[in-house]
Amino acid sequence: MTVKYNFDVVIIGAGLAGLYTALKINPKFKVAIITKETLDENNSFLAQGGIAACINNDDKFDLHIEDTWTAGSEMNNIQNLQQLVKSAPSNIEELVNLGVEFDRDETGTIRTTMEGGHSRRRVLHAGGDATGREIVKALGRELRKRENIILFEDVMVIDLINDDNKCMGVTALNGDKSIIILASATVLATGGIGEIYNNSTNSSVATGDGIAMAYRTGCKVDSMEFIQFHPTAFYSKDKGQKFLISEAVRGEGAVLRNKDGERFMKKYHKSFELAPRDIVSKSIYNELKETQSDFVYLDITHKNKEYLVKRFPTIYKKCLENNIDMSKDYIPVKPVQHYNIGGIRVDRYGRTKVDNLYACGECSNTGVHGANRLASNSLLECVVFGRKIAEDINNTVEDILDYKYDSTHINIDDNIKRTKTNLDIDDITSTIKNTMEAYAGIVRWEKGLLKAKKIIDDILNNLNDNYTYNKEYLEALNMATVAKLVIRDCLERKESVGCHFRIDDYHSKLRTISE
Ligand code: SIN
Repeated sequence: MTVKYNFDVVIIGAGLAGLYTALKINPKFKVAIITKETLDENNSFLAQGGIAACINNDDKFDLHIEDTWTAGSEMNNIQNLQQLVKSAPSNIEELVNLGVEFDRDETGTIRTTMEGGHSRRRVLHAGGDATGREIVKALGRELRKRENIILFEDVMVIDLINDDNKCMGVTALNGDKSIIILASATVLATGGIGEIYNNSTNSSVATGDGIAMAYRTGCKVDSMEFIQFHPTAFYSKDKGQKFLISEAVRGEGAVLRNKDGERFMKKYHKSFELAPRDIVSKSIYNELKETQSDFVYLDITHKNKEYLVKRFPTIYKKCLENNIDMSKDYIPVKPVQHYNIGGIRVDRYGRTKVDNLYACGECSNTGVHGANRLASNSLLECVVFGRKIAEDINNTVEDILDYKYDSTHINIDDNIKRTKTNLDIDDITSTIKNTMEAYAGIVRWEKGLLKAKKIIDDILNNLNDNYTYNKEYLEALNMATVAKLVIRDCLERKESVGCHFRIDDYHSKLRTISE
């Protein structure tokens, strides 16, 4: 028998976007947070560098807006960008009130660092290089004090319940049992899509679930061609999650060298290693081809061990585990998939095209990042838009409460028993990863994309013909769905811009020095 729950709000995803939204909902409303794993398994938890906010005297909102606009190839939604930047300081204050301890200097002032594309030091950090972890842990502590919020861990959402363009909640799997969570408002905060690539900095939970569900239910999903590749992931031959060497390391003076020891970024951009991320990634790609190498080096050997251990404790330890002492050795790095800029199209309140359905964080597309996200604007987007969503829900949810949804016809128990799959899910997911890595990576071209489209379409048909109620199947279905959307948008955009680099675009110039 399917168990049914009634909540005022259901939030899917327990990264920063989900947790902060939940904490900003009026405590008189009953909130469910669903996560398919646990509180510490998400991309927010892995975020190292920090959260951008204009808090220093030498900084101005206009400068933060301009830097984001330039990094985004001037394709950003300017209204939403203004909201992002101007609401940053008050949301930082709110994070501090909720128990987040940002790193401070001897006088108690919050420390800030530089990152690529920023013209001022405005990136706040916590725990040295563990900003995401520190924020998520603090919000998790706060969450446990809130009696109105119930956390469902290890619960995999199957799909959204859509009744005549009104979202009424979700169906989900709790082990091999089905559950229905009805809610007046539903928030998707499911994070990224890194699992569709062989090499990504993302957590293994990043299978694009929210984007796939939103697409199936009729939301607009766009700008999926703008996949950001982080220039400096620790190089290893193995496929799978890659350890990030934060951009903040370059912010503190690290330089990039090719296999011959040459500081090559001078050939590509006047800001050298602190050029916007898309330019650094493409430059490394070019350098690897020219020098026929698998990786380049990040060199921060001018800083001593004492400083590095204190400023980058996680990175220092991880490098050491791989026999690299950052104070003496160059770190081998390579660009890998890092962030999905596109996603579920939302307005300035995080509202989607479907009534009572919101999206927040990496799965959403607010347009603030344009064609290439400025470093450390993503945690900021989670809190600014999470708060807007909570405000909108606080103002409207009572009007929706009276609506009685008849859920008696939803019964998925029988199906769960009936469907046992013969599909080889491991084979399917590795085909998706190999395909996306080969044809929708840093560089794209028409013929390769058409080949990828055929492979992914076949996989999707096969999955749809063999629908199965289990977590592995549902994740594979979501991965194939978002892969299809990435390929669709890569094919659609014929010109190179931002993170989208079409090598068959005659006008593409990789080796340009940007003035
Ligand atoms: C980093 O620390 O380099 C990642 C920050 C980000 O992706 O914004």
